[in-house]
Amino acid sequence: MAIQIDAEKKIFTLETDHTMYQMQADAYGVLRHLWYGAKTGCDMSYLQDYPDVGFSGNIYAAGNDRTYSLDTLPLEYAGAGVGDFRVPAVAAVHADGSSALDLRYYSHTVKPGKYGIEGLPAVYAAEDEAETLEVVLRDTASAVEVTLLYAVLPALDLVTRCARIRNLGETPVTLTKAASLCLDISRGSWEWVHFHGRHAMERQMERRLLFHGIQEIGSTRGTSSHHQNPTVLLCTPDCTETAGACIGAALVYSGSHQTRLECDQLGQVRMVMGIHPDLFRWELKAGETFSTPEVMLSYSDTGLETLSHHFHQAIREHICRGKYQLAERPVLINNWEATYFGFDTEKILHIAEEAARLGVDMLVLDDGWFGKRDDDCSGLGDWFVNETKLSGGLHDLVEKIKGMGMRFGIWFEPEMISEDSDLYRKHPDWAIRIPDRAPMRSRYQLVLDMANPEVQEYLFRVMSDVLHSADISYVKWDMNRSISDWYTRTLPADRQGEMPHRYVLGLYALLERLTAAFPDVLFEGCSGGGGRFDAGMLYYCPQIWCSDDTDAYERTKIQYGTSFFYPVSAVGSHVSTVPNHQTGRITPFETRGTVAMAGSFGYELDLNLLSDGEKQEVAEQIRQFKTYGPLIHNGKYYRLTNPMAEDAALWEFAAQDGSEVLVQGMLFHAEANVLRRTVQLRGLDAEKRYRLDGTEQVYTGAALMAGGVLLPKAWGDYTPVTMHFSEV
Ligand code: DGJ
Repeated sequence: MAIQIDAEKKIFTLETDHTMYQMQADAYGVLRHLWYGAKTGCDMSYLQDYPDVGFSGNIYAAGNDRTYSLDTLPLEYAGAGVGDFRVPAVAAVHADGSSALDLRYYSHTVKPGKYGIEGLPAVYAAEDEAETLEVVLRDTASAVEVTLLYAVLPALDLVTRCARIRNLGETPVTLTKAASLCLDISRGSWEWVHFHGRHAMERQMERRLLFHGIQEIGSTRGTSSHHQNPTVLLCTPDCTETAGACIGAALVYSGSHQTRLECDQLGQVRMVMGIHPDLFRWELKAGETFSTPEVMLSYSDTGLETLSHHFHQAIREHICRGKYQLAERPVLINNWEATYFGFDTEKILHIAEEAARLGVDMLVLDDGWFGKRDDDCSGLGDWFVNETKLSGGLHDLVEKIKGMGMRFGIWFEPEMISEDSDLYRKHPDWAIRIPDRAPMRSRYQLVLDMANPEVQEYLFRVMSDVLHSADISYVKWDMNRSISDWYTRTLPADRQGEMPHRYVLGLYALLERLTAAFPDVLFEGCSGGGGRFDAGMLYYCPQIWCSDDTDAYERTKIQYGTSFFYPVSAVGSHVSTVPNHQTGRITPFETRGTVAMAGSFGYELDLNLLSDGEKQEVAEQIRQFKTYGPLIHNGKYYRLTNPMAEDAALWEFAAQDGSEVLVQGMLFHAEANVLRRTVQLRGLDAEKRYRLDGTEQVYTGAALMAGGVLLPKAWGDYTPVTMHFSEV
């Protein structure tokens, strides 16, 4: 049993293979957090020893006990306004205008399997893979009920959490905050890691000491954003890749989010993660329920690498779905950087012919095939083939491409609308804007009101028509701006605060419908590259275009940051031309292939423009990806260097059974008169013997892990590294 309950002490213990999470409903019904960490087999309440802290008041029922304060105790889900002055998890305004919530234990239930969340993406599991605990809390004065849901997936060392908030009363209540996670850690010294960035430079890892007070990351852009990924790590100062304690939290949500970390007066840490409260108001009428998105939590006391392995497996096997979840992904060629908007049928076929000849599996036609779309000023919303550009139509083009032995994919940006479009001329009211206020434009475009069912219906219909009109195997779902000017005609004035979350629910509803209607289509997520790279989108799209930055050198840093939570199979990564279109940098062709291979591999250039030698390299890279692809996507991923701090980006894929290992990456710079660099491998069987491909050299696993491998001599900048070892 993953969930154990001491009924007398009201202690709830959630156990995974290597971790333990514990809480207790105390004498006053306050649900205290007792422990998240290594398995101890013990009631951890002995650590709860609190002094009388001045200015931290006491609940009424505690009488003269000045040591009992909501302001100091570790809480499972902190309410607001009743004496805990730290960051709350939930806040509400009642009919009388007051805004307090004092949540106390009411009941609990244990259920087999993993709970689901209606309308929201969530971890799924077979009934024998998970167990669910529901703890019901009720406010002491109002009719607000909060059910905390915990699912335990023991084999993955994973605990998931979300909250269901119900109004049991007759009068409406307005939620002003409803976090998914509140995690109080009362002991230890912690640092935090987050992943910040910008367009074309996403998920830059940053590790910082926690200072006293509140530190926060978040997005108010309506998307999870390029700027702050909805994932956070807490780790002990001595935590490395292979040693030390760490906790990871990933929000399964694609909209605005916030994570606040508060280091309180006693040095305790509270982490509160969920929908961004600045863009959230939700009215609960009598009997209504609000469900928060889910947070995935994992703990490791063997460093960050173990934590990443938990998340990789959990996301790949329990978030991603559908036919392509575990399947080998097609090697594709995307025409965006090859042509931008300047293409016609002939040009696309010309690109396709060479790609087919070199072994590419699929051609993806990017932006510009529809409506009036010769640049980014117009056309969005008109999802009808532009027959001036694609003479003969889409069906004809797809058949010709299929005739070359390739499959076909197509780009959409469903959530957007150009003012210069037939859709806008017909339905200007479908664009998000506040009446009488000029909306922000970004990339010249406006955003469709995804909270409006008519918009969802239109998009389902036009996209289905396109997908039925030809044999289309892949959809790239793009989204190229941040959202502002929140307003929807579908809600009254006093409920406009619900719009940002309703947008996300509308997006998910459409994705659910389309992915269900087209189960054979591979959906790839995208938002100007990786601006919506989150576990929520991965529930619908098993891969996401990682970044608009295709420069192999910069990509190593982006992919490094991405790897802490997200599996390699989720990372869309392509070889592009040089000088690189984003940075002007020139990197060797082989290096570009090596970096792109740490993902769902493809090309983003006109292969006709390559030299004969480079074309041969393309064929060789594809052969290599077909050979190593299963190891890359199913093996365990190891970060061998930190490219943010070292002069090399090196990573490794090791087979789960230790039978083979692939080391890849690049050495950033060459130096004269230096020893060749080595790197120590990980995850091998020390006793086994491994041969380096292309040589007769045999090593023990112990040697490769202790002595390391001798890397190629760096020559020039960005020397590629690919070394494959097989068990002999
Ligand atoms: C942004 C994407 O990230 C690119 O790959 C490309 O699809 C463009 N949008 C097209 O407008």
